[in-house]
Amino acid sequence: MYHKKLKPFPKDFLWGASTSAYQVEGAWNEDGKGPSIQDLKTIPADTSDFKVATDHYHHYKEDVALMAEMGFKTYRFSIAWTRIMPTGDGEVNEKGLAFYSDLIDELIKHDITPLVTVYHFDLPAALEEKGGWKNRATIDAFTRYCEILFKAYGDRVKYWLTINEQNMMILHGAAVLGTGKPDWKDLYQQNHHMMVAQAKVTTACHNLLPDAKIGPAPNIACVYSQTNNPEDVQAAETMAAIRNWLYLDMAVYGEYNALAWAYMEEKGYTPTFEPGDEAILKAAKADFIGFNYYASRTVAASPIDDTASPEAGDQQLAVGEPGVYRGVTNSYLEKTEFGWEIDPAGMRTTANQIYSRYRLPMIITENGLGGIDKLEDGKIHDDYRMDYLSKHIHQVQEAITDGADIFGYCPWSAIDLISTHQGFRKRYGFVYVDRDDFDLKELKRYRKDSFFWYQKVIKTNGEDLAK
Ligand code: BG6
Repeated sequence: MYHKKLKPFPKDFLWGASTSAYQVEGAWNEDGKGPSIQDLKTIPADTSDFKVATDHYHHYKEDVALMAEMGFKTYRFSIAWTRIMPTGDGEVNEKGLAFYSDLIDELIKHDITPLVTVYHFDLPAALEEKGGWKNRATIDAFTRYCEILFKAYGDRVKYWLTINEQNMMILHGAAVLGTGKPDWKDLYQQNHHMMVAQAKVTTACHNLLPDAKIGPAPNIACVYSQTNNPEDVQAAETMAAIRNWLYLDMAVYGEYNALAWAYMEEKGYTPTFEPGDEAILKAAKADFIGFNYYASRTVAASPIDDTASPEAGDQQLAVGEPGVYRGVTNSYLEKTEFGWEIDPAGMRTTANQIYSRYRLPMIITENGLGGIDKLEDGKIHDDYRMDYLSKHIHQVQEAITDGADIFGYCPWSAIDLISTHQGFRKRYGFVYVDRDDFDLKELKRYRKDSFFWYQKVIKTNGEDLAK
């Protein structure tokens, strides 16, 4: 449906952008920080490790000033668990606590609302050695860690996000975490533990910080059926349940999605509950929904002996499972140079689907285009990024006009950082950071063309999207 007249963005709309600790901070072993699984994973030979990243740890004041110059109302960043607790569950590292306290103060000084993710792919290595999320002790460690954050920063942080893309960690663990071939039964048990952990910290946040708001940050994508064959449509419904609603039904209703549960039963993947889990899950309800959106998915039915069904790969590429669904390419959509489909209208559909299911306020916590930017005479002409973002922002406005309650937009990423597995050459930021995968240069910051464009978008509260 086309609206003749779009509703304006709300007056206090939270324009901003996102990053995650291990992809931007660097200083991987400084000031008492312990190693996370990201620091120890095997890095492909042709990409950088995460040791220096954008060196935001040492440049955070300069970076926040650039965000303020763009007019950010919010900044979504994550806290590295291993800066706060180097071994995940032992001593608290005061220098780590101080870093984020200073960052939060710096943001507030510039009238930027902090939006804090407590866990973004960087599990403490010491916990991984003890079984990671397989081990229920990790639930308690996570709860303790979060309570420390709530007590330390709750006076200044009003918006909290629990776990970034839990669904991608389960469905694409190999791509985002660098783990090997999936053992699905085991993964769904880990998933259950993460859900219990998320519920516990949601409740802890409500108890400790009655004025704060907390919600999840999964990657949600509407799922299209390749054809109008009812079997393809059912495959799309199944994928949506396994990929999207399993995670949001739990965060909002404290229950397993029925169709996703039926899938797990059929496959023998259902997790074991400990006494008390059900009550913990039921007691926690998210205050809002954060979701990352890069593109929609398209699927077809898949016969049980489907040999064309692709294995889980890159978190944005087609996946499938014989007998369940098969990911296919959508011939109506263009792709980025990294092969990711581009579907701005799908973001409106996704927001509307989420809103009609859960009726909670929503914020887009990631959306963006990864590309190879060229520095030419101190300038970066990233028209492709502005095209991508303006089309998506337009669809946010369409969704708002449809009635969806969207209170903020945080594209990926505020500043260049390291891609989850494609190194520094795949850039997302409004600010260019001058380094290559293997040559750190001086890490000088440059404003891309999209920097000035986004500044104008924010200034006009989304009215002027022209380049
Ligand atoms: C999301 C993650 O999956 O996509 C980010 O939350 C990630 O951490 C982003 O960087 C873009 O993906 P990639 O693989 O290009 O870094």
